[in-house]
Amino acid sequence: MKVLVVGGGGREHTLAWKLANDSRKPEIFCAPGNAGTAALGTNVAIKAEDVEALAGWARAQRPDLTVVGPEAPLCGGLVDALEADGLRAFGPNKAAAAIEGSKVFSKDVMTAAGVPCAHSAAFTDPAQALAYLRSQPVPIVVKAEGLAAGKGVYVCGTLAEAEQAIREVMVERKLGKAGQRVLVEECLEGEEASILALVDGENLVMLASSQDHKRVFDGDQGPNTGGMGAYSPAPVITDALWPEIENKVFRPTLDQLRARGIVYKGVLYAGLMVTGEGPKVLEFNCRFGDPETQVVLPRIEGDLIPALEACVDGTLNPDQVAWRPDPCVCVVMASGGYPGEYEKGKKIAGLARAGAKPDTIVFHAGTSVADGAVVTAGGRVLGVTAFGADLPQAVSRAYDAVSAISFAGCQYRKDIAARALARGGA
Ligand code: AMP
Ligand code: GLY
Repeated sequence: MKVLVVGGGGREHTLAWKLANDSRKPEIFCAPGNAGTAALGTNVAIKAEDVEALAGWARAQRPDLTVVGPEAPLCGGLVDALEADGLRAFGPNKAAAAIEGSKVFSKDVMTAAGVPCAHSAAFTDPAQALAYLRSQPVPIVVKAEGLAAGKGVYVCGTLAEAEQAIREVMVERKLGKAGQRVLVEECLEGEEASILALVDGENLVMLASSQDHKRVFDGDQGPNTGGMGAYSPAPVITDALWPEIENKVFRPTLDQLRARGIVYKGVLYAGLMVTGEGPKVLEFNCRFGDPETQVVLPRIEGDLIPALEACVDGTLNPDQVAWRPDPCVCVVMASGGYPGEYEKGKKIAGLARAGAKPDTIVFHAGTSVADGAVVTAGGRVLGVTAFGADLPQAVSRAYDAVSAISFAGCQYRKDIAARALARGGA
């Protein structure tokens, strides 16, 4: 069996690792991959955004399954192109991926479906956006409509900050086309968590809860990043919340999409704020989360390929996913300066020693191989992941492995899972 994983980050190394361990022992290809995926299979030198080149490669190589990691190729229609060639692809088609590709569409679906979320208004005219802002209380949130690599959301404590955000996005067009329209949104308060669900067009299976750490510095300070660490399960998602999330978030959203002629297949990711009024949706993503995948997928017992194929074929059932109960923690080691400018090409030491520690897996993100050595090649470099019998043990194992690894300028958060530890662990 041939499997193509599209993408080259920590999420994709985790997917490739899980798929490579499937009992069918598939041959893994990863485009473009990283040093971690190169050790599991073959890297294909095509960028994840290059839908045409990926479709061309797949047409010639005929993978039995393609698993698409990032949002860009999903929103760019890669799954549509592969399906048109009679190939099996895990992920939503272009129309369904708009749940992430357009925040205005996503909000429209949520509102029509009655999904709990922040009140908001959409604008294409900056003057109207500013006038509306001035009628609203602060804090307030300004969001660019389109894909902006995690940079499109401004949580503003003051009116002046919100006005500045409108100017940057709508007038100066700092985010390009993504800022043609903005949403001005009520600021929700509470604790965040991510729930990913496998969806086969009709049926859904919610995966274990997790929590990301989006800010770059300890104590949730500094700018937003792609995610500096994660843990699973997230105790903020109590047992009582599961039916609510299924019945008030996922089912109505999928029903509403279906009513619009859109069949959703793949992963649907709900970014939730657990507020005093219950869970509300901050955003939907059309893919696995990064770094949530690094802590959720290793907790799945046994094979993943049957569940992914069932999503493609419309035959998903909950028995296809079984869970290892132990909590899992991922600490992201990043390049100095990230999420701003950073240098690449720094030699990484200690990978083998870290990976040999008990119940520890070092997932690669921004890495490549140069002269036989693994070097840094991106902002987020590694996702150092460990299990424990309880959360404190998982945290201490992950940090023990982190301390075995070094590269020039390395930075990482020291407080991954602190919120859950403060609750008394998982
Ligand atoms: P998003 O890309 O929509 O998930 O937004 C990125 C981050 O911005 C989220 O993880 C939240 O921390 C924050 N955020 C987004 N929308 C809101 C909101 N309505 N209220 C408070 N925080 C928000
Ligand atoms: N960890 C946030 C995301 O994948 O969007």
